[in-house]
Amino acid sequence: MKPVHLAPSILSADFAQLGVQVEEVLAAGAGYVHVDVMDGHFVPNITIGPLIVAAVKPIAVRFSAVVDVHLMIDKPDRFLADFARAGADVLTVHVETCPHLHRTVQAIRELGVRPGVTLNPATPLSTLEEILPSLDLALIMSVNPGFGGQSYIPTSTDKIRRLRAMLDAIGSAAELEVDGGIKPGNAAEVVAAGATVLVAGSAIFGGPSISDNVVAFHNALN
Ligand code: DX5
Ligand code: ZN
Repeated sequence: MKPVHLAPSILSADFAQLGVQVEEVLAAGAGYVHVDVMDGHFVPNITIGPLIVAAVKPIAVRFSAVVDVHLMIDKPDRFLADFARAGADVLTVHVETCPHLHRTVQAIRELGVRPGVTLNPATPLSTLEEILPSLDLALIMSVNPGFGGQSYIPTSTDKIRRLRAMLDAIGSAAELEVDGGIKPGNAAEVVAAGATVLVAGSAIFGGPSISDNVVAFHNALN
């Protein structure tokens, strides 16, 4: 069995305390830092860019953590080099934004970054079929992208299961990441369906103690 990693989404962090909070989640045992990049076009919200990736990178390096950048932007090809330079270890693009997805994935790899691809809840898994052998990560969106704190869409579990079968059928070692509405209460279900990386924003950065929230996830998975 592949190890399961927690990927706290800094979208829900307190940006005035970003360094301290990233350090806290990594010290508590999270293995990834998930960075949600939104452009106000592909999704109805604007967030952050390469400057924040560069700011969290040295902290991630200290903990040997993966800087996991999720691009919710139109024409992502324009910015791949900037995010690679800023320190992204994984760059994930949406199939809905990439008319030449194979070229985009190759461009990410040529930059020395691990390529990921994701799809919106209503986009069928068949859109991943041809690109799957080229990926290091496939991401199932379990909410409509744009905002933290939304509820997990229950049909996502079956989609995770079907993606797990597709990956296993081709012998892929790619990570299967799930993003949106993940809490300690549904983490075990998502992992049982085949996920290996769990993104969580509000469930990690909300409430009085970030490190207790990370521990709650680890307890839920044991
Ligand atoms: C949604 C983002 C998610 C989001 C997750 O568009 O891609 O990463 O921050 O937040 P929660 O865990 O609160 O659903
Ligand atoms: Zn995300």
